[in-house]
Amino acid sequence: MEKTDVDRLRALDRQHMWYPWTPMAEWMARDQLVVERADGCWLIDADGKRYLDGRSSMGMNLHGHGRTELVEALVAQARKAGETTLYRVSHPAAVELAARLAAMAPPGLQRVFFAESGSTAVETALKAAYAYWVAKGQPQRSTFVSMAGGYHGETLGTISLRGENGEQVDMIRKTYEPLLFSSLSFHQPNCYRCPAGQSSDTDCALECTESLEDILTREKDRIAAVIVEPRVQALAGVITAPAGHLAKVAEITRRHGVLLIADEVLTGWARTGTTFSCDAEGVTPDLMTVGKALTGGYLPLSATLATEQVFEAFQESVFLSGSTYSGYALGAAVALASLDLFEKEDVPARANALADVLATELEPFRALTHVGDVRQLGLIAGVELVADRETRTPYPPQERVVDRICTLARDNGVLVNAVPGDVITMLPSPSMTHDDLRFLTGTLYRAIREVTGE
Ligand SMILES: Cc1ncc(COP(=O)(O)O)c(C=O)c1O
Repeated sequence: MEKTDVDRLRALDRQHMWYPWTPMAEWMARDQLVVERADGCWLIDADGKRYLDGRSSMGMNLHGHGRTELVEALVAQARKAGETTLYRVSHPAAVELAARLAAMAPPGLQRVFFAESGSTAVETALKAAYAYWVAKGQPQRSTFVSMAGGYHGETLGTISLRGENGEQVDMIRKTYEPLLFSSLSFHQPNCYRCPAGQSSDTDCALECTESLEDILTREKDRIAAVIVEPRVQALAGVITAPAGHLAKVAEITRRHGVLLIADEVLTGWARTGTTFSCDAEGVTPDLMTVGKALTGGYLPLSATLATEQVFEAFQESVFLSGSTYSGYALGAAVALASLDLFEKEDVPARANALADVLATELEPFRALTHVGDVRQLGLIAGVELVADRETRTPYPPQERVVDRICTLARDNGVLVNAVPGDVITMLPSPSMTHDDLRFLTGTLYRAIREVTGE
């Protein structure tokens, strides 16, 4: 792109754009990164500079950019019909995709309700869970229980899941508090800062789940569902649960007769090793959400899967939910092509091989003076920075240490994210080459050393 064109774009950007989750004054004060093209796992900016996308466009990129199979599926569907809407009309791509999702999901999740984003898929799950209890004659079950710190989306419903009794009532909940419904949260399985006061993994008898047991014992007749990000909370700072945690949560939830919602929007599609994270512990939730990489990141599409037991409660009623674009044909056609690639190229095997490389590459980070903890589940990894390793004391927020590290990594050609809690997160695509992954970790390692003065 010519320099004058880039300057013009940046001027228009400053005048008209409003970015998600972005401090706009700061954004406008610097030269915005304008991504013009992409190739595999690399983003190429308007000046021709290349950046390795260590965050897979927030978990969307599954097969790499520029995959002709996905482009051809999109064009072929667009030639047949761009959209039809699922409002009392069916079309082949959505039906095929529903059947395919049901076949791939944990056994028992047979019904598929389509939406457009992860947030709307979770919102759908919340409404389905509540409406289920209404249909069962228990409308007092209107409270949801989530895991503290979890992220389930940006809508008012999903923000409401940031339980007001949690140990991490944060800025998002505080900002919108008067608009939200009440919810409860139980301890997150944070082994680095164990909420149950255990000192190491070896002492762990999953005491952190006792807070869920307590809530359900006390409140069970008014609880609609428990919602979790299965086995890892990415945006909470890559909180990886000890083995057996998900199965235990599922057992407690079932024993109290409450519905379980697994939010697989980020963890799905082999990001944690198995196709869905629930698969690793043999858990079938009552409702499960998928999104992000469902179309390989090429189009926005998401889905809420339900068991027949949940679905059957709606036989005498109508599920009052859905939007114009629910299950639109283009998205469904590209998702089918993406699932073909998923199977043909054995994405789970590829993700596991890459995750092994990542584990090896992350090992040296543990020796850095200001790295408190390194956490990883499959292709979700986080490095927690601390001012003092001995006492696990965080840096003063005004030092903005992780922001500075991410900016330096970006200047050196690698995109990674900072999340609250001074954690740098990596979400490499399973399609990334092993050499590219080493470039990612090497660049990040050097950036941490430079910014922390090691
Ligand atoms: C676990 C989880 N659920 C839901 C969402 C929301 O998805 P979306 O941003 O597509 O609305 C996210 C987004 O990061 C997520 O990580």
